[in-house]
This record gives sequence, C-alpha cells and structure tokens, in this order.
Amino acid sequence: MVERIIIDTDPGHDDAFAILLALASPELEVLGLTTVAGNVTLEDVSFNARRIVELAGRPGLGVYPGCDRPLLRPAAHAFDVHGSMGLNGYDWDAPQIPPSETHALDWMLETLAAAEDGSITFAVLGPQTNIALLLRRAPDLAVRKVKRIVAMGGAYFQGGNYSPGAEFNILVDPEAAAIVFGAGIELVAIPIDCTNLALTPAGWIRDLAAFGTKVGDACAGMMEFFEKSGNALYGTATRPLHDAVAMAWVLWPELFAGRLCNVEIETGSELSLGSTVVDWRGRTQRPKNCLWITECDAPVMYARMLERLATLPV
Ligand code: BDR
Ligand code: CA
Repeated sequence: MVERIIIDTDPGHDDAFAILLALASPELEVLGLTTVAGNVTLEDVSFNARRIVELAGRPGLGVYPGCDRPLLRPAAHAFDVHGSMGLNGYDWDAPQIPPSETHALDWMLETLAAAEDGSITFAVLGPQTNIALLLRRAPDLAVRKVKRIVAMGGAYFQGGNYSPGAEFNILVDPEAAAIVFGAGIELVAIPIDCTNLALTPAGWIRDLAAFGTKVGDACAGMMEFFEKSGNALYGTATRPLHDAVAMAWVLWPELFAGRLCNVEIETGSELSLGSTVVDWRGRTQRPKNCLWITECDAPVMYARMLERLATLPV
C-alpha cells in the first residue's frame, strides 16, 4: 500500500537527501512539503525546497512555508554545517516556481480535513514548530487523521550535537517538541543515537557522481560540502545523513531497532535545554510515548538509497 506523507523540513543537506529519497520511492505518495526556519531562514529553506523538488523532476509539488521562528524563542540557524544558503556545495539553479502563498498550517489543516482517518504520515525533519502549531490549532483532527509522526531529532546515548546535551532540531524549539512528544499520536524518533552511527560509506561521493545526472552532481557536491563542514566540527571521516536516515525508517523499518519508551523534553533548564530525557530502562510509570530508534543497518540502507537516487529525476 502506498503511504501518504507530508514532509516538514528545513533544507539543509540531509533534508535534501531525505526529500529526494522520498520522491524516488514508489511506496510513498508525497502530498507536499511544509517548511520551517531551522538550518537557515524560512525564506531560504523554502527556496531550497523548491530547488530540490524541481531537481527531482516534480516542479508541481506544493511547497508551503510555515513558521519563520520557534514558538517562544528567537530563530537559530546552522550556517556552520549547511553554509550560508543551506545547500552550499552545488551551483543550484534558481527555482522557477516560487513557494506557495498558502501558509503551511492552512495547507496541513485542509489536507488533513480531506484525508481518511489514520492515513497521513508526517516526516518531521527540522524544528517541530509547524507541527506543534497544528497540534494546538486542531488537536482532534490531527489525532484522528495522522497515522504517525516520524521525527528526526533528539539525543540521549550520544550526547548533544548543538549543545552538550541537545540535538539541533529539539534545541531550536524545545517547547514545540514538548507539544509534539505529548500529543498522543504514534511517534517514532530517529535521534542522533541512531544517525551518528549511520555514517555514509566510503566512496559514497564517487558513487553519487557516477550517476552522470544532474541529481548525482547535486548530491555529490552537497555531500562534499557537508563532509568538509561536518567532519571538521565533529571529527568524523564521513557524515551521517540524519534526515535521510529518518526517511529510510519510513521506507524500510525492518532495517532499524529501538525501544518504545517514555521521552520527555527539557524546556526549563538553561544548562540542558532541549535534552530528550529517555526512560530507556522503564524507571518511571510515565506513558511510553515514543519509539526511540538506536540502531540501523547502515550499509544496506545506503545501498538502497543510492539505487533510489539513481532513478531521479522522475
Ligand atoms: C538535524 O539538524 C539539522 O542540522 C539537520 O538537517 C538535521 O535535521 C541533525 O541534528
Ligand atoms: Ca533538517
């Protein structure tokens, strides 16, 4: 059965791979992209999302700009990892079609209202601001129509990547994440506990470039930049494609392992703001609200991803 999916995203190199993977996958019907300020500004992530769908050969796919800042906090970006425009490393064409004038929240409400119960999967690849707003605006509709939320975010065993204790997507908008994790909707978290162990294989850039397509060139160029910025920062030889790993869970959950746990978000402490507190050992009676993924068969996952990316543009 084809899975109907909304991608909420802040592209971002790894978001780009996630979106391309989804658009190359016949198991998924991507209904649209909603964008959120995160890796770079809302304006730039929205333009980047358009660049990606056009590169993938899907210029008609809707890109709906959402929130330009977190619920309560000032915007924070990751220029150090993703570059000044968010997708540095490739000489992108300017997008031909501007992002939609419909706000992400309005489009999500319309789309959910028209959908069958339990039929929509959300892949949430950035700060969770848009989804939190949706959950506050129409909680009953969301609970009824959403099948599950698959979110790239969080850190427990690995420590943080944007602060000692927190991962970027949660740290940027911890209040939004607290709403999402408390929503009562099936939730799968793909934290850096899993993605940091899923490094792209040696020869990945060469294999992407060997497609001999525009998509292959863009992917290879992005990856070179992403490695240059990330390896220096994190001391790795290659880089994990965090958001693409989350999309791979949507496609191939059999390649992953984790545990259903209680996960709460720290919103009060300055020191550990945005920490995801995982009750891995079941020491509390708090509800098991999240499937927390810790393992992935990375070689098989990246081999499948490569095959899919080679089929683009559609
Ligand atoms: C997450 O933060 C962003 O920089 C990436 O796009 C990913 O969603 C990883 O911590
Ligand atoms: Ca992202």
